[in-house]
Amino acid sequence: MVMDVQDAVETRRARRVISDRPLEKGEVQRLIHSMRLAPSCFNNQPWRAVVVDDPGSLEPLRACLSKGNAWATQAPCIIAVCSRAEDDCQLSDNRVYHQFGCGLAVGQMLLAATEMGLIAHPIAGYDPLAAKDALGVPADMTLITLVIVGHPGDDLSLLSEKQRADESVRPERRPVGEVFSHGRWGVPWNHVE
Ligand SMILES: Cc1cc2nc3c(=O)[nH]c(=O)nc-3n(C[C@H](O)[C@H](O)[C@H](O)COP(=O)(O)O)c2cc1C
Repeated sequence: MVMDVQDAVETRRARRVISDRPLEKGEVQRLIHSMRLAPSCFNNQPWRAVVVDDPGSLEPLRACLSKGNAWATQAPCIIAVCSRAEDDCQLSDNRVYHQFGCGLAVGQMLLAATEMGLIAHPIAGYDPLAAKDALGVPADMTLITLVIVGHPGDDLSLLSEKQRADESVRPERRPVGEVFSHGRWGVPWNHVE
């Protein structure tokens, strides 16, 4: 599937119904490539990732997921994204950029996955210390997110009622004027469709 960026932005969703069909190596390579090309402060590239796609490594990682993320135990691939402050710019006024850089890299990867017809869903619901231990991630690294990756599936049994409802309807966004100002902080952006 070829999508322009706007299509990928509109199509991407944090979907949870994922098939256990393995990803192809080329698909994983494209996801990695899309992260590598992300912008970063001084090109520091603060992201580190563990791509987990073999059953022996997936099993202990799945055991670290929170109950609400049981849906993620079907997925054939989980990308664990890590970073630490010293690997990126740390500037005045609390501008600590490593997690920002990881966010940009993951954002690009989510759009690339969308174009490839994959689901790529970042989560924060896991035991971070247990997950780091399961993957051998050094203690001074922060495991910022696990990105759950796979092909769309059809088995809804691992989803809660709410998760089933969320699957087809994108959760509401805050009103644009509450979040975006125009010219000066607090002057609501006047959104015209
Ligand atoms: C940092 C982060 C953590 C998240 N953690 C979880 C999670 O633990 N479980 C889950 O099901 N979804 C998780 N999500 C997905 C969000 O719930 C989802 O992106 C949001 O509701 C908006 O829906 P949409 O992405 O489909 O537009 C997370 C997303 C982000 C960016």
